Amino acid sequence: MTGSLRTGTRIGELSAEERAVYATLRPEHLPQHVAIIMDGNGRWAGSHSFKRFLGHQQGAKSVQQVTETASRIDLPWLTLYAFSIENKLRRPRAEVSFLMRLLKAYLESNLQRMMDNNVRIRYIGRTHELPPDVQEKMSWAADATAKNTGTTLTLALNYGGRAEIVDSFRALAAEMQQKQIPFDQVSEADIHRHLYTAHMPDPDLLIRTSGEMRLSNFLPWQTAYTEIFVTERLWPDFRGIHLLEAIADFQGRERRYGGLGKNSGAVDEETECAPVVVS
Ligand code: FPP
Repeated sequence: MTGSLRTGTRIGELSAEERAVYATLRPEHLPQHVAIIMDGNGRWAGSHSFKRFLGHQQGAKSVQQVTETASRIDLPWLTLYAFSIENKLRRPRAEVSFLMRLLKAYLESNLQRMMDNNVRIRYIGRTHELPPDVQEKMSWAADATAKNTGTTLTLALNYGGRAEIVDSFRALAAEMQQKQIPFDQVSEADIHRHLYTAHMPDPDLLIRTSGEMRLSNFLPWQTAYTEIFVTERLWPDFRGIHLLEAIADFQGRERRYGGLGKNSGAVDEETECAPVVVS
């Protein structure tokens, strides 16, 4: 999606390297919403002969760096896949417990920086299934940043895309029953209205680090027309400059939404009565 010129940019706060990449961008065509699958923490740790938890710890630093760059370019929506339902079910208990403690520590130690950068923190996912002390810290950070007006950083926690669609259907079914709406009147807009992301635009750009070519159950409904950018870089090595490079690549794409584009070939009126040959 393209949109209005950002008014709250703080380009002067970008690093010299970031500014050089930003200078190549068309500010009026910045994405409104960037979503990121942060992958490769474990491999990063392995490549440095570290234990896996150090990869996650380093990954948390990337979260803050990328969020601050997003806020400096006044990106309205940044959504990060921080912890999936599958992570909770399939990772060793010790790793899940470390990730929960890391999240709490991250929120606590970065709150002031979020305030300084005018970042609003929100969450999507079945967050009510997370440990109570984690939920408490999450609410604390969300409440403290609720009035900020810059980038909304949404952390997907205990998130699964199919679970989100199930939750949306359940909420919609309850509404239909209550309002006596016939099922054949259900529209895409009705389903969308009950998604966790109903309040935000769909992502324009989805970045995945560490080279895997998968969506991994992240925002399957919302990414129907999203441009996908996969980088070999592992998440703990990902920085703001790499976000800007991904946006530069995005700006070179032609988004057609099922329609025709610049190089789609000529169409003329004769098409309507042209003979159809299937051989
Ligand atoms: C994938 O790495 C990443 C995760 C499972 C979790 C993402 C968590 C962070 C970036 C750290 C903390 C986040 C916040 C918001 C404080 P992986 O373990 O799957 O890596 P691998 O595929 O190389 O093993």
